[in-house]
Amino acid sequence: MVQCVVTGLGSYVPQRVLSNHDLEQMVDTNDEWIVSRTGIRERRLASADETTSDMAYHASVLALRDAGVRGEDLDFVLVATNTSDTVFPSTAARLQARLSDRPMAAMDVQAGCTGWIYAIAMAKALIESKACMRVLVAASDKLSSIVDYHDRSTAVLFGDGAGAIVLEAREGPGTVGVLSTYLNADGRGAELLVQPGGGSREPASHETVDGGLHFLKMSGNEVFRFAVKAMPEAVEEGLKRAGLTVDDIDFLIPHQANQRIIDAAMRQFHLSEHQVVKNVSRYGNTSVASIPLALDEARHEGRLLPGALVVLAAFGSGLTWGSVVLRWGMDR
Ligand code: COA
Repeated sequence: MVQCVVTGLGSYVPQRVLSNHDLEQMVDTNDEWIVSRTGIRERRLASADETTSDMAYHASVLALRDAGVRGEDLDFVLVATNTSDTVFPSTAARLQARLSDRPMAAMDVQAGCTGWIYAIAMAKALIESKACMRVLVAASDKLSSIVDYHDRSTAVLFGDGAGAIVLEAREGPGTVGVLSTYLNADGRGAELLVQPGGGSREPASHETVDGGLHFLKMSGNEVFRFAVKAMPEAVEEGLKRAGLTVDDIDFLIPHQANQRIIDAAMRQFHLSEHQVVKNVSRYGNTSVASIPLALDEARHEGRLLPGALVVLAAFGSGLTWGSVVLRWGMDR
């Protein structure tokens, strides 16, 4: 039996901070509204010349160093993103070229903010089927490149960032690693969170740009209602697949979209503040990067002791949702 284990982790956020007070100068909003409705106080924004693949690269270098391996030692580079440097080729191909002189498989996984969860599920399948020995799963989004900073309903929510994990094969049942994954999608909600322009349905034109169709559009209330149901379902289904229940949770690391969505899940599962990792106040919603950023922070704070049962759960555009259940520990 082959087990999929974690050997390295890294994360990256750009330097520039955009605070709620900065946003007050840009749109008709205020710090009190943003904090009370979302829990967000500030977010990081990439500079104009900093790309999604640049951020993925910084996080990946840290993850590879943490794992003690070189880019050339990988078999596969997966990148979860919704804001690829270019529509094609993939951000993963660009990242692969920077990490390794040796060619290897590379592709993007696009599944809204659930993308990193999807990509980990792919990596686990590749490893457990013995197709791969070592997979880098990066997550990077530059949502600031598709946010309309004149639209107060979305401008306050999002930030930029990246994370990466190295997953490897180990023989035997093992004591740590990825225990289970759960993925789901319901495309009937496709228009609730969408970048309408620039794809094949509405190719870029003067009209699409003038109409702002290249910006992200969101029906906030509907997405909120979906999220408060989807995240708990993802947690419960992931645990069920691992033969566990919510009583076994040591830590929940939820997608950092909104403090109220996180708190609803915390209350539903009777988890304490200590058991739920939150950093949405400092980074906003960094899309695919939010869970690896929170996981890496919790690790550096010394909160995740080896053997802890950690559930990662996300939801996003698609609509998509899913979870990863991990027995924490680095098997280097
Ligand atoms: N500042 C001040 N007022 C704002 C505002 C802002 N940034 N954004 C919206 N408002 C106003 C609205 O215009 C509305 O005013 P009205 O009552 O006069 O019409 C009022 O605040 C309430 O808006 P509403 O959209 O009902 O607020 P809400 O409590 O639903 O909160 C979200 C909005 C976006 C914070 C919330 O719906 C949410 O978090 N949704 C989920 C989003 C998400 O997670 N997306 C990512 C998925 S990966």
